[in-house]
Order: sequence, then C-alpha cells, then structure tokens
Amino acid sequence: VKVRFLRPDGSEEACDVAAGLTVMEAALNNGVDEIIADCGGALSCATCHVYVDEAWMGRAGAPSEAEEEMLEFALDRRPTSRLSCQIKLVEGLDGLSITLPERQQ
Ligand code: FES
Repeated sequence: VKVRFLRPDGSEEACDVAAGLTVMEAALNNGVDEIIADCGGALSCATCHVYVDEAWMGRAGAPSEAEEEMLEFALDRRPTSRLSCQIKLVEGLDGLSITLPERQQ
C-alpha cells in the first residue's frame, strides 16, 4: 500500500508498506519523525496527529468517539485531523496522501 507524507516545508516522503499497518507505523518504519506516537498506538497521546487529504477523508473513515476525544489534545486541529495510529492501511487506501503538522505538541 502506497502512502505519501507531505511535510510543512513542501518536501515529501513516499513509502510502500504492507497492508494492515497503520499510518503511524508506516511513518515510524520509514523515518518520518514528525510522528512521535508516544503511546505506541494506544490512543492515549495525540502525538501521531496528521491531516488526511480532503479527497481521502471519505475512504479513511470518521474518527471513533475515543479518537475524537483524544484529538482535543492535538495542536492546530482541523476538520481533516486524524490520529494516524487509528488509520489502518487497507488496500482501498492505496495512494493515501497525508499532510504532517508543523509540530506535535
Ligand atoms: Fe498515541 Fe496515536 S500513537 S494516540
């Protein structure tokens, strides 16, 4: 599954990872260190905050209630905000485009 990480400075990182990994895991495995993921995906830190490209919002799905609550702690939250540990890279998300925030906290 291909996923593209766009940095605030305009550079980007394109990765190809195994289906079933989360966007957070894809980032960590590929040196995208804008994603910190303090809690390791347990939905208790909000340092894996990303923006999903608008075109992908429908396919990425809506955040769960628990994710919504944790997103309150994300810096500069926007309508496209998600916690990347909660987005599983299924085949239908091949080509997903993710924008990284300026900083996590
Ligand atoms: Fe902590 Fe996603 S890694 S909430």
